[in-house]
Amino acid sequence: MNAPLSAIRPSATSSVPLRGAIFDMDGVLTDTIEFHYQTWQRLADEERIPFDRQANEALRGLSRRDSLLRMLDGRTLPEAKMQELLDRKNQYFREFVKTMSSDHLLPGVRDFLDDLRAAGVKTAVASASQNVYVVVEQLGIADDIDAITNVYCVDRPKPAPDVFLHAAERLNLSPSECVVFEDAESGVEAALAAKMHVVGLGPVDRVGAAHWVLPSLNGLRWADLQAKFEK
Ligand code: G6P
Ligand code: MG
Repeated sequence: MNAPLSAIRPSATSSVPLRGAIFDMDGVLTDTIEFHYQTWQRLADEERIPFDRQANEALRGLSRRDSLLRMLDGRTLPEAKMQELLDRKNQYFREFVKTMSSDHLLPGVRDFLDDLRAAGVKTAVASASQNVYVVVEQLGIADDIDAITNVYCVDRPKPAPDVFLHAAERLNLSPSECVVFEDAESGVEAALAAKMHVVGLGPVDRVGAAHWVLPSLNGLRWADLQAKFEK
């Protein structure tokens, strides 16, 4: 593989063969982070809520409601107002979603999905996003994914392990057979809590708790994961 390796924690290997790949979506398969930023910024400006790019970074992996609560920083709003803001934000975001296509897959994703298919690996997407189904469809990868889940299918959002455990169940795999790809701190925490192998994508100060940290999926092959995680 071409991707430079910045960290691996030795405790990650196991004698159980890997059989499933579970992907977070935003920031892993596609760079919707910018779309989320622009739509939150638009809402924040309209509502005079202090917000900027740096504040947006802290929202990675959080559900829409948890993101708004973080932005409000302890300020409370009536539930009807909260709902209106969440709906308005999503309406802005859906305008971006309409423009999405396979051109919005992050580098290396298409090749990696082909490699997983050829290797007979089961695949799932486990996202915090309510828009996961429409985005996967727009990206043109619905046929490559065996199970699509989000935090609305389970009781607790990330950093609880629920959505990853649910994805593994949908694939009929045990957690130790699965490797998770995540770009968010809360997602890495969730995948570790699910007792899965975890690849963190991005800087060490964000995903450094993962078993293996890579800059992206570009150049990665299933054989690389087997070499790293299987005894
Ligand atoms: C992902 C993104 C977050 C986003 C969340 C909810 O986890 O990293 O930035 O807020 O999904 O997305 P949604 O599509 O439901 O608004
Ligand atoms: Mg993400």
